Amino acid sequence: AEAYELLKDYSNGFRIGVATNTMHYNNGNYVNAMKAFNYMVAENACKFVSIQGSKGRFNFNDCDNHLKKANELGMAFRGHALIWHSMAPNWIQSEDSQTMRNSIINHITTVLKHYEGKIDAWDVVNEAIDDSSNGNGWKFRNSFLYQKNKDFIDLAFKTARQVDPKVKLFYNDYNTEGIYGKSESVYQFVADMKKRNIPIDGVGIQYHVSVQNQPQLSKITDLIGRYCKLGLEVHITELDVSCQGACNSGDEQNKQGQVFSNALKACLSNSCCTGFLVWGVGDPDSWLGQDKRGLLFDGSYKPKAQYNALLNVL
Ligand code: XIL
Repeated sequence: AEAYELLKDYSNGFRIGVATNTMHYNNGNYVNAMKAFNYMVAENACKFVSIQGSKGRFNFNDCDNHLKKANELGMAFRGHALIWHSMAPNWIQSEDSQTMRNSIINHITTVLKHYEGKIDAWDVVNEAIDDSSNGNGWKFRNSFLYQKNKDFIDLAFKTARQVDPKVKLFYNDYNTEGIYGKSESVYQFVADMKKRNIPIDGVGIQYHVSVQNQPQLSKITDLIGRYCKLGLEVHITELDVSCQGACNSGDEQNKQGQVFSNALKACLSNSCCTGFLVWGVGDPDSWLGQDKRGLLFDGSYKPKAQYNALLNVL
């Protein structure tokens, strides 16, 4: 495959990552593009339903295969995600409160032990704050998890810390980029966790945004800075930037490149922001669909102008 300048070569050890999926590993162009990065997260394989689709029967094959590939390519690996209302198997959703508590504890314990020493950070809880939260306090998502155990977030983090005291524990959510009120609510919620000594090490800002609706550089920089002041790390975890049109014009592409580079600038200007990950390798494998042109590599896995925009920031 054609050689291009690699993001990781300019990142000075800063973690610059990508979500991948083993189902694409037979595509040489895809794998070649993966090598631009030094950090990997599995798009789906390490989620609850993927590992424990039937109760008590843990299947680590696909998650392990991602980790193996990461090791092969010299990439560090990020764990996503332990407890989430979505992509949770049916069996846990119908359990009663006490049984579900035990299932949460058992899942976290078994998964963290399996990966102890091999993964540097886990999203312990994903997307637990309700979208309607407007910055005046917060509202929990009314999920099956919350309905059965109001304290499931505390439970998850305490369990994780107890099982593996070294791995970094993250809370991860979307609409947390300083565009909506929910960003402030998630900040307040995380600050409250810190105040109550719940063992949390970091916050994942998913950063699924669009060219038409993008964070302001000063706002997102400030917000990350406030997390730093709490003593937390920040990762931008799932960056993609969808285009309303096809982003075919140079002007649209420049605008999109600016959204990518602003995210990287905001992260790099805060020393506690230690990871920056895009959610997919290229447009063909993006969960947004190829026509949203949301990622850094094009239909044949060649770097786009947006990729060069990031290179210019590093
Ligand atoms: C998405 C995957 O990209 C899809 O393949 C899957 O069908 C659904 O999940 N927030 C998250 C990610 O935390 O796990 C989601 O990933 C995207 C939104």
